[in-house]
Amino acid sequence: MQITKSVYLVSGANYDLLGNVYAIRGEKSVALVDSGEPCAAEVIEVSLRRWGMGDLPVTRLFLTHGHADHAGCAAYFQKKGAKLVVAEGDAHWLREGGFRADRTPYGEGWTYPSCEADAVFSERSAFAFEDFRLTAYPLPGHTDGSSFFEMEDVGERTGGRPGRTVLFTGDTFSFDREIDDHVLLCWKGSPDYDPVKLRKSFEFAAQEFSPDVILSGHGMPLLANGNAVIRAAARKFLVAYR
Ligand SMILES: [Fe+2]
Repeated sequence: MQITKSVYLVSGANYDLLGNVYAIRGEKSVALVDSGEPCAAEVIEVSLRRWGMGDLPVTRLFLTHGHADHAGCAAYFQKKGAKLVVAEGDAHWLREGGFRADRTPYGEGWTYPSCEADAVFSERSAFAFEDFRLTAYPLPGHTDGSSFFEMEDVGERTGGRPGRTVLFTGDTFSFDREIDDHVLLCWKGSPDYDPVKLRKSFEFAAQEFSPDVILSGHGMPLLANGNAVIRAAARKFLVAYR
């Protein structure tokens, strides 16, 4: 599914799989944001071919965090040549391949093939991908290394106008206008979930970002009112967990 000039949804709930996967189309290569659950590789490959990216190598994989429905195919794409980028706080999940049954309160493990990150960040950092520049923001809470990635869709630049700002938000919150309260807060069962850090992350996000497009780890793409939706998610969290 094409979302903006350069960004596509290539796996996730619309494909009957867990964890949205986004492709950023460059001239000569593709970057992915998240990689879906461990069984998603074939659907991602089929989607890339369907949207004319089958001949382009996947050279970067930006991970919003290390849960199995986001990093599940990280090892697969790394073996094919992609460099893995993740916040320092979640690099260990990649190394461990997710969490075993004894690391959750539920007695259920959630694992995937392990791998080693190629680049980690622990503060606001810029990453270049062809003409795109992604700014990574560590925003812990959902996991210790959860992050947002912000970029301008440079493929949309026309007549001196910038392209729309796209914000990848992982699992901190998601959006679905068709449900009662239109924002969904993240799953709180990770062994490293931290509500105090998440509160600070929400406070920062509500102040910092006014994106044109929000692409979260689950739920629908949001193409309008980005700042209002972030503020609604922050308000929902602060009211529920004050
Ligand atoms: Fe998650």
